[in-house]
Amino acid sequence: MQLTPFKLERYFARYEFNVKYLLCSSDCESLSVGDLLGFEPGAEEGLKRHWLGYTESSGASSLRVEISRIYTSIQPEQVLVHSGAEEAIFLFMHAVLQPGDHVIVHWPCYQSLFEIARSIGCEVTLWEARLENKWVLDLDELKRNLRSNTRAIIVNTPHNPTGYLMPQDEYTALNALAHERGFLLFSDEVYRELEYDPAERLPSACDINPGAVSLGVMSKAYGLAGLRIGWVATHNASVFARMAALKDYTTICSSAPSEFLSELALRHRERISGRNLHIIHDNLSLLDAFFSARAERFEWVRPKAGPIAFPRLVGEVIEQFCHQLVTSSGVLLLPGTIYDHPGNHFRLGFARKNMPQALALLEQFLDTRATKGSMSI
Ligand SMILES: Cc1ncc(COP(=O)(O)O)c(C=O)c1O
Repeated sequence: MQLTPFKLERYFARYEFNVKYLLCSSDCESLSVGDLLGFEPGAEEGLKRHWLGYTESSGASSLRVEISRIYTSIQPEQVLVHSGAEEAIFLFMHAVLQPGDHVIVHWPCYQSLFEIARSIGCEVTLWEARLENKWVLDLDELKRNLRSNTRAIIVNTPHNPTGYLMPQDEYTALNALAHERGFLLFSDEVYRELEYDPAERLPSACDINPGAVSLGVMSKAYGLAGLRIGWVATHNASVFARMAALKDYTTICSSAPSEFLSELALRHRERISGRNLHIIHDNLSLLDAFFSARAERFEWVRPKAGPIAFPRLVGEVIEQFCHQLVTSSGVLLLPGTIYDHPGNHFRLGFARKNMPQALALLEQFLDTRATKGSMSI
């Protein structure tokens, strides 16, 4: 296995804890342990009493009950808890893929969604979402790319980094195609529950496709990345068993306090994701005004779900722009080159309470440069 460095994680490792304003985070505003314990009387005492031995390797049974409530057809025994979504991606790929298998991956994407398949020796075809199509995926293109050795299709909707949400009929057709053509669908649903119009929420793949694997996590819609709890939900017993067997070689089981706190948070998941959606809606209205006033500098496809979008910068090289911004204003954007995307885009995150201050600094940065530019002419 030859894994190349995870560019996005390396970029965050360099900046995340050194800059004042993260204007590109993909997780929502977080909570403190105290905030979370305040949701239920007795929770603080419960945490103090919570046993710190090993937990069940598939996840504490009461946590799996709570996770299964997210889905319409999944039983607690069909949920496998992991240390973050990242561990689940790693184990899924190692459980099902062999060198020489063909894998099709929705792209641009979170790097591990294609990198791990590549490192195993799979042939990877990128299923490209294009700006000129407003990031819409073309199902016919997917069909043309299917081969006799296509083992898995990886999709992520709501999407990192574009905020694209597949229409329901396309998503249903994709799941039906997987069933018909016998490939596995790995559906990264970590941004689910952050649809701006709740009527557009997609069913989870595991609820409509018996072979599919759905990925969920505490980090994104609930903003609780520090718990490092993720999971897969699936009716596919053979994939489940292979992933569970591999987990004995990575983390064995999850952190007991994190499981306790995740279960507590999930009992209040609508309250938490609702608060985060509220922050997103407020911030998006500021962004709408920002982009409409600067249409000559940015191409903006308004996202349909999630905490991030992928605007295009016009007239300047994105890497230099991001570097100058973070150096002079302490505001971090993520250049699209981190996704190996050549289109001069950047990832913008807007699910943090301090986004208005970060946006004001970005505006100031743009205005100062515009003044300097006009003075030097
Ligand atoms: C699409 C997607 N999948 C998986 C992950 C991994 O989530 P976690 O860091 O909580 O393991 C991320 C994180 O950014 C993501 O954006």
